[in-house]
Amino acid sequence: MSIDKLLAQAQDFDRDDKLARFREEFYLPQNDQGQAQTYLCGNSLGLQPKSVPDYIQQELKDWQALGVEGHFHAERPWMPYHELLTGQMAKVVGAKPDEVVCMNSLTVNLHLMMTSFYQPTTSRYKIIRETGAFPSDCYAVDSQIKFHNRSPADGLIEIGPRRGEDFLRTEDILECIEQHAQETALVLLPGVQYYTGQAFDLDAITKKTRELGCMVGWDLAHSVGNVPLSLHDCGADFAVWCNYKYMNSGPGAIGGCFVHERHHKRELPRFAGWWGQDKDSRFKMGPDFQPIPTAEGWQLSNPPILAMAPLLASLALFDQAGMNALADKARHQTTLIIDYLLAHFESSVELITPLNSASDRGGQLSLRIAKHGKSVQEALIAANVICDWREPDCLRIAFAPLYNRFTDGVQFLRVLHRVLDNV
Ligand SMILES: Cc1ncc(COP(=O)(O)O)c(C=O)c1O
Repeated sequence: MSIDKLLAQAQDFDRDDKLARFREEFYLPQNDQGQAQTYLCGNSLGLQPKSVPDYIQQELKDWQALGVEGHFHAERPWMPYHELLTGQMAKVVGAKPDEVVCMNSLTVNLHLMMTSFYQPTTSRYKIIRETGAFPSDCYAVDSQIKFHNRSPADGLIEIGPRRGEDFLRTEDILECIEQHAQETALVLLPGVQYYTGQAFDLDAITKKTRELGCMVGWDLAHSVGNVPLSLHDCGADFAVWCNYKYMNSGPGAIGGCFVHERHHKRELPRFAGWWGQDKDSRFKMGPDFQPIPTAEGWQLSNPPILAMAPLLASLALFDQAGMNALADKARHQTTLIIDYLLAHFESSVELITPLNSASDRGGQLSLRIAKHGKSVQEALIAANVICDWREPDCLRIAFAPLYNRFTDGVQFLRVLHRVLDNV
């Protein structure tokens, strides 16, 4: 198909898109000449909803006018402010509200969760993760293994793709877990892999891992707000995520955490703080820790209201749009350009995101560029198409269906033609 035909098709899809109106709800960055960028970088930092300044201003005004009394008398009182996030966040990740808490940031939450759910014994002490995991996860996992007086060389099992392949096969993951279950304490995997964009089968992997008696946790940095999730039903022990990518809640946004309800009343080891203390006795100021019997029991500090305001603004949009509709649109957006990419860039670009079925990926496509990849990415940015680069050889583009149009994908292809002709 020619690029002009593809453009006509994309324009039709944009015209019929029931989610199209949400684009108006976002600030779209512009280049120096005032032209809106083709922003395909929502997998790194999502755009700002226009409602965010009002949400933050409200808290600044209440702080100015009320001081400490804002904890009780702000328009949205600060004492239970974090609870406003819970219901909508729980819908996005497919959990019960008391299984979800928004707090800290991803890596902090990962450590808190591993404190409770990585309990190595003399026979079961290993952690299974994927090869090429995100560095922060590697550091966190390695340091936890060391904290328990073992070496990562001994305590770690990594599952990699088969020789000559780029992403993992579910059957290989299940086989690896089965083979090592007797020595494994925890399986920690990404919902969507940051480099390849592969979406993992949370259901099958979680069920198998639990049947074999290991704990299972998910890093959902690239999944939340991108693919539909059913954390409660799949039975994961825990999950952690950030909210600055597809969740559009700003740089370094407050993170999220899921703890399955079956763990809420257990006496698990945990690092405690006063915001995890039972709400009725929190202000009695006693020394004995009685955790709230929900995911909130893992909170440490009183919540940063100014950081939570953007997430509250963003969640309202997710609630209106609906996660399934968003994920369907993102997959449709990637599908639209995949055939063209395969047909026209065969010698210069290799897609390393799984293409077999729509459920194997979310809104991200990862492209291995044969030559001068970093220069290609820089030239795309110079031409007003914002995408990112991950070493050693991956150009990532992502569709965030709240603000991306189908025509954005075609614009990317047009500019890619030009750029590859020139580098
Ligand atoms: C997969 C993954 N894990 C962990 C992190 C680290 O997140 P944070 O800096 O919020 O702890 C990121 C950040 O992009 C990520 O993509």
